[in-house]
Amino acid sequence: MKITHISAECYPIAKVGGLADVVGALPKYQNTSSNSSQVIIPFYNLKFTQNNEFKILFESELQLGVNNYKYRVLQLQENSLDFEVFFIDVPELLFNEYVYSSDDTDRFLAFQIATLDWILTWNKKPNIIHCHDHHTGLIPFMLQESFNYETLNTIPVILTIHNAQYQGWFSHEKVNYLPEFNLDHFGLLDWNYQINPLAAGIKCAWAVTTVSPSYMEELKQSANGLESLLSHETSKCKGILNGIDAEVWNPENDAFIVKKYKSRTIKSGRDANKNYLCKTFNLDASKPLFAFIGRLVHEKGSDLLPEVFKEVLKNRDISVLVLGSGNKENEVELNALVSDYSGNYNAFIGYDEKLSHIIYAGADFLLMPSRVEPCGLNQMYALRYGAIPIVRNIGGLKDTIIDIDNDGFGILHEEVEVNQIVDAIIRAKKLYSKKTKFSDIRKQIVEIDHSWFVSAKEYTKLYKSL
Ligand code: ADP
Ligand code: GLC
Repeated sequence: MKITHISAECYPIAKVGGLADVVGALPKYQNTSSNSSQVIIPFYNLKFTQNNEFKILFESELQLGVNNYKYRVLQLQENSLDFEVFFIDVPELLFNEYVYSSDDTDRFLAFQIATLDWILTWNKKPNIIHCHDHHTGLIPFMLQESFNYETLNTIPVILTIHNAQYQGWFSHEKVNYLPEFNLDHFGLLDWNYQINPLAAGIKCAWAVTTVSPSYMEELKQSANGLESLLSHETSKCKGILNGIDAEVWNPENDAFIVKKYKSRTIKSGRDANKNYLCKTFNLDASKPLFAFIGRLVHEKGSDLLPEVFKEVLKNRDISVLVLGSGNKENEVELNALVSDYSGNYNAFIGYDEKLSHIIYAGADFLLMPSRVEPCGLNQMYALRYGAIPIVRNIGGLKDTIIDIDNDGFGILHEEVEVNQIVDAIIRAKKLYSKKTKFSDIRKQIVEIDHSWFVSAKEYTKLYKSL
């Protein structure tokens, strides 16, 4: 089977969050003797594209309304990744030093149209087209409805929803940006008087997946306006839990971390990473270290963290480290605590892949008080490195973490409220003080296998059923 993933992000080329991790790992695990998996992504002006050489495979033009854009399809001169990757270069729209911006309607429309125009020219067409999130949500619609792509409309197309909060809405006025289709079918594009790429993708894809089973169920209750659509389309919807790339995320050979370790050497390895973090960020290494890594947005519950930290740092019996960026007010508040709790608290506002690995390897506990968490990869990385997750009981967090009070290995709280997060941290402190139990849990969690092996098989089963 030839599987073609189409996505806005792919690690290590362009990463904003977990979407990149998934699209950079799943194809690797899908490349077997009977399947080949490849990725098509936009050509951005980022470190990866700056540091690599490319060859041109195809050149053409596309039209958005009255505007004409030249585009090229590029391929790496030398590919060190474990899967094939193709880049859509629309210099006027996509080639920027960021992945997302305010003119994304035009940017991702151009990406999707160029991708399909190019696929039309292939001799050996894909057996499966796998789209990810709203940036590629118009592809299922175009495959089904656009006159240009009639020869592709027998290819099964899947849409994976990584996050239904973002839907890519734009106004009806831009309908003429799409390649010609029967306007009687305009309703397929519309949701609440706007063109809604995610909704159109859900309506037209042959199958829709979410990145965890619980998130699929939750979306039927709360999906930023798409609840009734998801309930209506339930027969073609399925939740498949994400996996992790167990080669990239492996404390035994992770080049980012300060000291590598195996299950047998977990204590000394983790101590070295913790000591490095505490020295670098002026924290007390004799205290349990709590960390947060993530986008500072409402969904992640990070707005409550300043209040939580003020409460739990009163006695100065823990250390806290934050790595994240996003909402400016939240960044300022988190930074402001540094001087008040110097020696016990620090924050790195920004994005730093290397530091994130060291934190998974050195923090004792990882906080994820998410309001919404479609899957969450951080908790799975934390498990693999031996940091105990403290998570809200929702979405993929609910599907991966069992509370210590239920013979499990993590700490769950039901609601995203300051007092509940504080209570969870107090429970974690107690666990930390019971040295044997703490160390047993740590040894237990690094053995949990969340690699893509299992979930990649689920996708293969789904592809075959189509
Ligand atoms: P989401 O995709 O919603 O942001 P996930 O848990 O799926 O959440 O994935 C987040 C990914 O982004 C993880 O690989 C995490 O380590 C990484 N990450 C998030 N924020 C940062 C940051 N500031 N620096 C480095 N890595 C980060
Ligand atoms: C989204 C979700 C996150 C998920 C990731 C990868 O960004 O917010 O929960 O892990 O996609 O699927």
